[in-house]
Amino acid sequence: MRILVIFGTRPEAIKMAPLVKTLSQTDDIDLRVCVTGQHRDMLDQVLEVFDIKPDIDLDIMRAGQSLFDVTTDVLRGLEPVLEREKPDRVLVHGDTTTAMAACMAAFYFQIPVGHVEAGLRTGDLYHPWPEEMNRKVIDAMSDQLYAPTRGAADALLREGGDPDKIIVTGNTVIDALLDVTARIQQDRVLEESLAGQFDFIRPDRRLLLITGHRRESFGEGFEHLCEALLQLSQRDDIEIVYPVHLNQNVREPVNRLLANTHNIHLIEPLEYVPFVYLMNRCHLVITDSGGIQEEAPSLGKPVLVTRTVTERPEAIEAGTALLVGTDVKTIVETTSRLLDSKKDYQRMSLAHNPYGDGTASRKIMESLLDEK
Ligand code: UD1
Ligand code: UDP
Repeated sequence: MRILVIFGTRPEAIKMAPLVKTLSQTDDIDLRVCVTGQHRDMLDQVLEVFDIKPDIDLDIMRAGQSLFDVTTDVLRGLEPVLEREKPDRVLVHGDTTTAMAACMAAFYFQIPVGHVEAGLRTGDLYHPWPEEMNRKVIDAMSDQLYAPTRGAADALLREGGDPDKIIVTGNTVIDALLDVTARIQQDRVLEESLAGQFDFIRPDRRLLLITGHRRESFGEGFEHLCEALLQLSQRDDIEIVYPVHLNQNVREPVNRLLANTHNIHLIEPLEYVPFVYLMNRCHLVITDSGGIQEEAPSLGKPVLVTRTVTERPEAIEAGTALLVGTDVKTIVETTSRLLDSKKDYQRMSLAHNPYGDGTASRKIMESLLDEK
């Protein structure tokens, strides 16, 4: 069976890497990997960590690209690739525009598509935007739906999804996270070099790790987050580390409002290994990231989600994540409460694994081999 895996951004790469590794270990699958290059630097960082050498690279990224640019470049770029490669199946991941356009390109050739991380829903088409629509479109065009949780599978069933197409696998992000956590734990030299990379963080202060990139927060949302971080930085018992996404809509307000604050460290996006190291080391995370909402519960780290809705309710239900939106007062008060109340912090910092046990890639492979 010839399988073409297609992805293009950092989170897709992290979550497809364990699957690529698993599929490449069986002779029953002729595996090809195509990256669209929707992200460049942030994608290449992940390819290197997991030692993936793509067979095809569409290299589409441009500065300030629009959704139209990404959609059309992926569709146009994939037409000759699919014509030439003639895969029996395409695999896409999640909800990016790469995933949506790749799925559509395969559909136009009537090539079956398997959707990894199927069934995530907020129920609000504009939160996150355009990801909520991307997910729905991909699920509608795919004939194999790998749902990470029972809740995601139920969402697909509620929409009339065919139970025979839906498989609950766990999320492959946990496969990636466990792999990298083990690498760090088993390698003293690596751990020491990671500690050295972050020697600017004062060890006597608690670490707040921040990320953010959602389109619906551009403008006011990011300005509010920055204002909240500025207020929090008045405390003398915390250090804030913020790897800033490469999107200019994020970098502009963050650099303008937060540069030159002594305990706010604005740094470049981190490779996955140092980022996992920091997630392990931090006190809590403030983020709008999908992937981090799945990783942090596994590590027992409270996550404050700077969004109004989430497609990942499991972490909220488990008590590890809280929705705080982008309201300055809510972010400051909730963070301060977790910093000041041991009881509230402990309640949120119990480790949970609602997103899987590290066997998602194997389950997907077994399902693919069963198809033969
Ligand atoms: C994309 C995905 C989003 C995902 C996020 C993960 C869509 C519509 N959005 O959003 O679902 O959660 O990735 O991070 O698919 N840039 C660089 N170098 C990079 C990456 C980005 O310079 O390696 C800059 C470029 O100027 C680029 C801009 O960031 O034009 C935006 O990138 P894009 O992929 O369009 O959007 P993201 O906000 O990254
Ligand atoms: N991540 C990383 N370096 C960073 C920030 C995040 O490797 O500087 C990882 C993080 O651990 C998670 C993924 O990138 O696995 C999340 O990516 P992002 O937040 O960009 O996208 P989303 O998950 O929201 O689609």
